[in-house]
Amino acid sequence: MTGNVRPETMERITTPALAQAFIDEQVRELQAQIGDKKVLLALSGGVDSSVVAALLIKAIGKQLVCVHVNHGLLRKGEPEQVIEVFRNQMNANLVYVDAVDRFLDKLADVADPEKKRKIIGAEFIRVFEEEARKLDGIEFLAQGTIYPDILESDGVKAHHNVGGLPEDLQFELVEPVKLLFKDEVRVVGKALGLPDNMVFRQPFPGPGLGVRCLGAITRDRLEAVRESDAILREEFAKNGLEGKVWQYFTVVPDFKSVGVKDGKRTFAYPVILRAVNTTDAMTATVEDVPFALLQHITRRITAEVENVNRVLYDLTPKPCATIEWE
Ligand code: XMP
Repeated sequence: MTGNVRPETMERITTPALAQAFIDEQVRELQAQIGDKKVLLALSGGVDSSVVAALLIKAIGKQLVCVHVNHGLLRKGEPEQVIEVFRNQMNANLVYVDAVDRFLDKLADVADPEKKRKIIGAEFIRVFEEEARKLDGIEFLAQGTIYPDILESDGVKAHHNVGGLPEDLQFELVEPVKLLFKDEVRVVGKALGLPDNMVFRQPFPGPGLGVRCLGAITRDRLEAVRESDAILREEFAKNGLEGKVWQYFTVVPDFKSVGVKDGKRTFAYPVILRAVNTTDAMTATVEDVPFALLQHITRRITAEVENVNRVLYDLTPKPCATIEWE
């Protein structure tokens, strides 16, 4: 796709047939642009990078090299799903980088949320750069830039690019969905055969669970965030809230409270549940989750998640709270 302005005549992609026409056109354009050269893509497993990967696999197959960096801050099951869908099902050229210890070591003792974000962003670029240097003959860098990224900022949002790569690693950009809105990217993803839980997933911040494990990240609390988030997602899916609520997740603060289990005193972390609705993320209202479901989720989390003895529901809209806690 050339140019950064969506033509007024461009039809909104709302149906499988329109998505298929878009895919066919993109495949032709990508093949013409790339020829027999190689393309590199940072594949997080989010909707945008996954759709770009699937498009490129269709267009150029193994000339695409996907790099999936596991920074330890992903949700339960995400790295495994990326490997399953892209390597096993789509037969993609996928480099999986286990960078968990590296990220967690860098983040140890860092409590300031903005410092945490900077470390995660900078370390991501460093890991990606190291992987890029191991590969020969890469000429293009693919990115999951979408139209709101172009509208909202002068270039592309940090979580959609690996800008910041050194001078000698500047590649020509390939951005096949840069004129699409999110709902269109989802329709295209579905037409490309990506699984629903990848295509229709809720927004997930670039720093991932790192900003939901409050203060300085510790492995025990990070696991508590990951496990409780998995339970919340599972229960929302079972109870018809998955497609209804805009964003829902758990947060684990860095303090403990007293509890009691099997007749013994415990001293453990609380889990905070958050479920909000919004259209633009600038303001948000709290989902009115049925009380019985909140009680059921509380029972499951306190029974199944280690180091947790209390569950709270955040009733605060945005403003005055933000959606995330950090
Ligand atoms: P807040 O917390 O500001 O969040 O009300 C608004 C939306 O932005 C997401 N968010 C982020 N996304 N990198 C991202 O890619 C970040 O650092 C970040 N912080 C917040 C948040 O999940 C919500 O959807």
